[in-house]
Amino acid sequence: MLKVGLIGVGGISGAHIPAWLNLEGVELVALCDIRPEQMEKYPDIKHYTDFDDMLANEKLDILDICLPTYLHADYSIKAMEKGINVLCEKPISLKREDVKRVYDVAEKNNVKFMVAHVIRFWREYEFVKSVYESGKYGKLLSGNMKRLSAFPAWSWDNWMFDEKRSGFVPYDLHIHDLDYLVYAFGAPKDVKSFRSKKPDQDYINVTYDFGDFFVNAESSWYASPYPFTAGFRFQFEDAILSNEGQGLKIYERGGNVVSLEEAATGDTGEINLPKSGAYAEEIIYFTECVKNNKAASKVKPEELETVIDILNNL
Ligand SMILES: NC(=O)c1ccc[n+]([C@@H]2O[C@H](COP(=O)([O-])OP(=O)(O)OC[C@H]3O[C@@H](n4cnc5c(N)ncnc54)[C@H](O)[C@@H]3O)[C@@H](O)[C@H]2O)c1
Repeated sequence: MLKVGLIGVGGISGAHIPAWLNLEGVELVALCDIRPEQMEKYPDIKHYTDFDDMLANEKLDILDICLPTYLHADYSIKAMEKGINVLCEKPISLKREDVKRVYDVAEKNNVKFMVAHVIRFWREYEFVKSVYESGKYGKLLSGNMKRLSAFPAWSWDNWMFDEKRSGFVPYDLHIHDLDYLVYAFGAPKDVKSFRSKKPDQDYINVTYDFGDFFVNAESSWYASPYPFTAGFRFQFEDAILSNEGQGLKIYERGGNVVSLEEAATGDTGEINLPKSGAYAEEIIYFTECVKNNKAASKVKPEELETVIDILNNL
């Protein structure tokens, strides 16, 4: 039984904690948050308000870091230096040099480290990657992605409103789509971006040129209470793959419209899609890497550096 601790019991921990609690072969033994009230809804798990206390009192195999962005690298390093494997929320850092710093410590201490880039585990996005790789619908011609939201007013200490701590829209929202693009298609050859940044709103519109095709992606924190919206449309030679609010649909050139479920249960056997939610899938993947002593290579340090290099120029 692997012992797991989680630090940062705020917004996103609500997706991680149930996944840990539902997973067999692991036990979520400890939570840590400087605000004790955040942990009250989990009375059966030990609570800490100080990270050093948690490290001193628990023998953890895995630490799940759901802290604000600016704490990710240092807390990952501190845990790994104690021999603990670390799964850390995105982004790894706002600074490129932290990627090497973190991975060096992982290697030196012989532990696994992975950034929880959940879109890499999201079945609709995985499906597009599999279609791109199989060539089933011909070549990819263009893509369109979006991730829109209202300005996040809910964060602890308003850390999201502080660009030095959060990195604003590029590091909070757009990183999901850019990280996916780098994962699925490699580094873009050229980037053109436009941005409207005000004290209480931030919008970016970026076109990535991959040579044979291009992808336009828009991301926002609007000042108005615009509902969270995320989706994509990819144009292949012989089909449009659209995930724009009604689940993934494949509009084939001949007129057929196929849902992801139909495509995934077809007899072609060419795709192997995750069966549970993406947050659970990333946690399952990382746990298996730890159990089987395999590198968590689905997320590569050089990809993280590519993403930071691009984000820092938007
Ligand atoms: N993968 C996703 O879909 C996704 C979604 C949202 C957020 N995130 C990422 O998750 C991270 C956290 O975001 P959030 O929205 O949950 O933030 P949040 O502000 O809601 O939660 C952060 C928590 O950390 C606690 N905290 C702060 N400093 C601490 C410390 N030193 N020790 C212990 N606890 C401390 C706060 O009290 C708070 O409860 C961010 O880096 C964000 O980019 C990822």
